[in-house]
Amino acid sequence: MPDKVNVDKFIHGGDYNPDQWLDHPEVIDRDFELFKEAGINSVTVGIFAWDKLEPSEGVYDFSWLDDVFDRAEKQGCKVILSTPSGARPRWMAEKYPEVLRVDENGRRNLYGERHNHCYTSPVYRQKVREINRRLAERYGRRENLILWHISNEYGGECHCELCQQEFRKWMKEKYKTLDNLNRCYWNEFWSHLYTSWDQIHSPSSSGDSNVLGLNLDWHRFVTDRTIDFFENEVAPLRELTPDIPVTTNFMGGNPPDSHVFYDLDYQKFAKHVDIVSWDSYPNWANGYETTEKLAAKTALMNDVMHSLKHQNYLIMENTPSQVNWHPVNRAKLPGMHEMGSLQEIAHGADSVMYFQLHQSRGASEMFHGAVITSKMSSKTRVFRDVSRVGRDLELLKDAKDSRCAEARVAIVFDYDNMWALDDARAYSNQSKKYWETIQHHYKAFWDMDIPVDIISTDDDLGKYSLVIDPMHFMMTEKFAGKLKKFTEDGGTLVGTYINGIVDENFLTYLGQGMDTWRQIYGLEVTETDTLYPEQKNNLEMFGKTYEVRDYCDLIEPESAEVEGTYGDFFYKGTPAVTRNGNAWYIGCRTDDGFLADFYGRLCRDLGLDFEIPLEKHSSKVSVRVRQTDDADYCFIINFSHEKQDVELSCDAEDVLLQEELNSGSLELEPYGVKVLKISR
Ligand code: GAL
Repeated sequence: MPDKVNVDKFIHGGDYNPDQWLDHPEVIDRDFELFKEAGINSVTVGIFAWDKLEPSEGVYDFSWLDDVFDRAEKQGCKVILSTPSGARPRWMAEKYPEVLRVDENGRRNLYGERHNHCYTSPVYRQKVREINRRLAERYGRRENLILWHISNEYGGECHCELCQQEFRKWMKEKYKTLDNLNRCYWNEFWSHLYTSWDQIHSPSSSGDSNVLGLNLDWHRFVTDRTIDFFENEVAPLRELTPDIPVTTNFMGGNPPDSHVFYDLDYQKFAKHVDIVSWDSYPNWANGYETTEKLAAKTALMNDVMHSLKHQNYLIMENTPSQVNWHPVNRAKLPGMHEMGSLQEIAHGADSVMYFQLHQSRGASEMFHGAVITSKMSSKTRVFRDVSRVGRDLELLKDAKDSRCAEARVAIVFDYDNMWALDDARAYSNQSKKYWETIQHHYKAFWDMDIPVDIISTDDDLGKYSLVIDPMHFMMTEKFAGKLKKFTEDGGTLVGTYINGIVDENFLTYLGQGMDTWRQIYGLEVTETDTLYPEQKNNLEMFGKTYEVRDYCDLIEPESAEVEGTYGDFFYKGTPAVTRNGNAWYIGCRTDDGFLADFYGRLCRDLGLDFEIPLEKHSSKVSVRVRQTDDADYCFIINFSHEKQDVELSCDAEDVLLQEELNSGSLELEPYGVKVLKISR
């Protein structure tokens, strides 16, 4: 299967819904003119168009879609074709109610909304295969078809009887015997022993919601079921159009906390798509955090997507201006659209695509930002901003096949661990802040412009010099073995508090803890003190005092040496940070100042500083490098509302201004971007 889209430029396009305008052909005419003007070279069509494609059962109408392909082809515009399973026609739900989802209390949803399908229903699966087959038969050979966009933002779950049966099958396959299952779930607790597989039921607030193993397995099952549904969708496409890659738009990074998408294990899912794509909606210009902070979180989300397959990915959706679903929907400030778009390219995106190319006239998203608003004008600020990005991407054409500079640092992120940790009735129940912890560790590297991969426990650790494994509460023997080997081979490891506590079945390691884990870090954690938000401890290290919040592991060193100690409470003076050869353990949640000092020293010692012929004066400026065989493309982005200077120490070409530069000082406008081509 191809792992990239067959195009010779960066893709600049977006979701387009001409199916809403079929009685206004003049609007569609004008759209295509405006696409040309804005440098839009791709349209993503058919996402929610099932009722226009199959108005009644077995009756198809592809005339309007033929027209879109023809119009696009005429002006060299590519088409990304979506399968329509994200929303279904009314007739289908009316005739086959089983296609609709059932909630955790066994209530079937009414027809409505979108993304409201049962992912097990044989009827729905068959209907999806049928429409997808017809789309592939009709459009599979069109020259301008470049990519399949499968469904839309898969998510959610179904608890119908068909899904329960599948869940029981899944459990049986996994646990083999009820005795084993009962042991793994610790079902003697509250008299919960299963005596038949048929007693298994998904978690529910009116049934079981406190069997931790069951909750975790349900998360895992939902991912597996969704992937299974996806595979059912793509089967006819793989058969009929083997050269057209498939993707599905992933989510994550939404405000206010820019969290990774929670409900599906994308690390597992990504193995099934040819190319990762995602919908990126950072809330630029918000009133609660600096642009710099949000930029680091958005950079992290992009690195998550890049790391899923360690290959370039696509931005499937972002907004050209504001969205309509934040509490406050602020416009991007001048410069921000280019800043945000090129940040994504800098991290390995091969596209900038929008939701939406043309604003709908009615319904819930009528006021969501669009390239072409209801004003139908090219004179709007937003249209000009979009056109500028179109021009940038055109000028960057030679960098299209570039790859991000290789990361030598990795942060481990694990879905099972996130679900388990959050569900553990322990520590701070309000919020364990696993993702936030990753964000803080990542930011220390972002400030230094050092590339970082966000890896799963399946990834090969051998290519990294430094691996960071924060809050790895649910640690398998297998992964601990990998970490041990990594350190034995000379890699440097940093683990943090609440680490190595339970196995993959959510059962605690007995005695002094998992042997392999203890050997890595050379210590035993005897207790964890959880602090109230207003309580603070200190860490004494590097001759300084740092603030400590939330969590303090009480550490009993075995072979580890003490590098930092607690400054307060009943464990004052005891180890807080230790080092066992090249395995560091940070036993408490520290402030960002500590992370900057700690990683700064570590990176210097390990020679990890990324060599860039540039010196910057502020962490509000970020530098990322994409490389071709003969050149480095340095993306220098100013994430602040003030001008910033950087010092260039070699000759370069300013790609966006199309001029040659000599070494010296360079000025960046507020939210300004420069891309320098430095030939090798
Ligand atoms: C996405 C979705 C789009 C549109 C957009 C609005 O999550 O895929 O269809 O709803 O949000 O921002």
